[in-house]
Amino acid sequence: MKDLKNRVLITSALIYANGPVHIGHLVENTQTDIYVRFLKLNGHDAFYCGAEDTHGAPIEIAAAKQGVTPEQFIDRWVKEHEEDYRRYHIDYDSYYTTNSPENQYYTELIFKRLVDAGHIYTKEIELTYCEHCKRYLPDRYVKGTCPKCGAKDQYGDVCERCNATYSTTDLVEPYCSICGSTPIRKPSRHYFFRLNDFSDKLRAWLNGNKNLQPEIRNQILSWVDQGLQDWCISRDGPYFGFKIPGEESKYFYVWLDAPIGYIASTANYCRGKPFTADDIWQKPDSTIIHVIGKDIIYFHLLFWPAVLMGSGFHVPDNVVVHGFLNVNGGKMSKSRGTFLTASEFADLLDPELLRYYYAANLGHTMTDIDLDLKTLQDKVNNELVSNIANLVYRTLSFLDKNFDSTVTTTLNKELLADVAKKAEGVRDSYYDLNFREAVAKTLEISTVGNRYFQENRPWELVKTDRERTQRVLTDCVNIVKTVAVLMKPITPVFAAKVEEQLGLPALKWADVDRVVENHRIAGAKIILRKIDPIVLKKPVEKIEEPKKVGKDPAAINLRVAEVVEVRDHPQADKLYVLKIDLGTEQRQLCAGLKPYYPEKADLLGKHLVVVTNLKPAKLRGELSQGMLLAADNGKEVGVLNAPASRPGTQVTVEGAAGYSMAEITIEELQSFKLEAKGGKPYLEGKVLRTPEGEVAIDRVSDGKIR
Ligand code: MSP
Ligand code: ZN
Repeated sequence: MKDLKNRVLITSALIYANGPVHIGHLVENTQTDIYVRFLKLNGHDAFYCGAEDTHGAPIEIAAAKQGVTPEQFIDRWVKEHEEDYRRYHIDYDSYYTTNSPENQYYTELIFKRLVDAGHIYTKEIELTYCEHCKRYLPDRYVKGTCPKCGAKDQYGDVCERCNATYSTTDLVEPYCSICGSTPIRKPSRHYFFRLNDFSDKLRAWLNGNKNLQPEIRNQILSWVDQGLQDWCISRDGPYFGFKIPGEESKYFYVWLDAPIGYIASTANYCRGKPFTADDIWQKPDSTIIHVIGKDIIYFHLLFWPAVLMGSGFHVPDNVVVHGFLNVNGGKMSKSRGTFLTASEFADLLDPELLRYYYAANLGHTMTDIDLDLKTLQDKVNNELVSNIANLVYRTLSFLDKNFDSTVTTTLNKELLADVAKKAEGVRDSYYDLNFREAVAKTLEISTVGNRYFQENRPWELVKTDRERTQRVLTDCVNIVKTVAVLMKPITPVFAAKVEEQLGLPALKWADVDRVVENHRIAGAKIILRKIDPIVLKKPVEKIEEPKKVGKDPAAINLRVAEVVEVRDHPQADKLYVLKIDLGTEQRQLCAGLKPYYPEKADLLGKHLVVVTNLKPAKLRGELSQGMLLAADNGKEVGVLNAPASRPGTQVTVEGAAGYSMAEITIEELQSFKLEAKGGKPYLEGKVLRTPEGEVAIDRVSDGKIR
């Protein structure tokens, strides 16, 4: 798009502050960064704003698991993310956080305006509530079958197969993803945004916005035509987020305040500037462009514009949607070793070369990108090194050797005019976000330069006509200069080195038309060399080292218990009520084993491993004094057992000093890392054992233990 206003705000989606930047994220960051660099080079007052997406239940739960506050938890990721962006030359003008006073201010302001304008109402709704975990289950903690497309094991907010969004109670056959039990429905009063009120306005915006990709426009229009559901924008505590004013334990849903983080980041950018975030976001004289992946279009092209419309804010001028990254032809996968974090990949390859590869593959479409490592190597070697870097080095080194690094006047005006014209085409491609085309056209220009050098045979010509040779080389220097400008958005470090060698620092796009004559260059040095094949290491299955500042496994008191009675739970299809013998006492336990042990006899007499100091709870009316441990690989569930040990025997892990009798809650228990690996049970990375040997697991070899 070329119709840009005075100021141009460009954003990338906010990465969640609970995991590493991976090479998939980098597609988006690279795309955005290239575009911003390009606009700046062309004299636009463009700025790149982003932030950490910090709120929501997953971050709250993950922090609790590590025994730190959510603030401490997110801080660690922020530091790591910033370092990754630096390595990949992702040059944010403002990198901020949704957990900021500005974000709270704008979230409350927008909410108040929506309330005042009648776009918000409250109503009591039935929610999924896990009686076992004693909490309302937020989107990501209840799973089930997608009500739209029927995909199994989808989260409670959005289907990863069909991208539909819905609420947790819409899920077919839901289950608590923390403990696996079937949740109940429990009423709670919640806040709703009347999305449907905006159908006409959204239609008008979608049809009137010429910048949107047609396939995106059509997709969103079809959703509008199908009828929009009102959107629940509140969540019950415990939650990490902004409390809704006037509420005790209700919070704004993370997807309400996350995009508002774009505004907060703008405010952070505007600090000390002669204009404010309100100038950008509440007046029509700036251009706002979001860059996002195809998985979050519902949020950015329906909810977000409607929220902005309803609160008198500026609706985005463009939402650029890219596809997903595949690696070597498949989805990124940990087991195949193709799930690579930004920092892992930076150890394999100069990050700028990945930027080049992405640029060479990015069109202005939703098509997925395949990172094929062989193709990457070929592209780098044949295009970047043998074509572009070769033109630079052969030109500058020839001048160094033969002409004391100086150029005189240009010779072939026609050739240079043709190059300038081609460069204009490159600019158009950049404006259209068609970087693949920008790269192809730049390579054409570089090829023209190489051919011109070759055809003039300067190594021979210099023996007969020095003056003409030097003028040929002057032409080549001008092509090198132009290629450096064209490459600046994509490979800023490479381009800066070329500028330096040319003795022409800080070139702008306007320098495409500048003719470099009677100038002394700084001298040639090889910048890029051919790269070797990139080899991915298959990950070795390793048991994670216990964390240094970890949990004390002694807090969980595990003992061997013999099953002496098994009966059906009168109120729940999947539960058994077991009587167990702990040597010194008998207890009753409820366990969701019925689907996995349909024969009661298979459990009777077994020596199980039981958490004995768990706070007793009633499960659908039946008392449960403790919890037996079982491993779950998503398909099968198998109990932990110690057949050779007598009832009451302490189950231990190496290094634990004594065992606590103090009661622990289910949340505390769940904050420990319990997992099955290679058929053995581990607590915080240490194998569970009794004096008679290691604890065994039925059926399941790798999975979660709960
Ligand atoms: N936090 C939300 C966005 C909130 S924006 C107000 C989120 N975060 S994310 O970390 O999951 O994703 C961030 C961006 O990276 C999204 O635009 C997403 O589409 C993109 N990608 C995540 N994985 C990707 C690939 N494998 N390939 C390409 N882009 C990918 O969603
Ligand atoms: Zn639960």
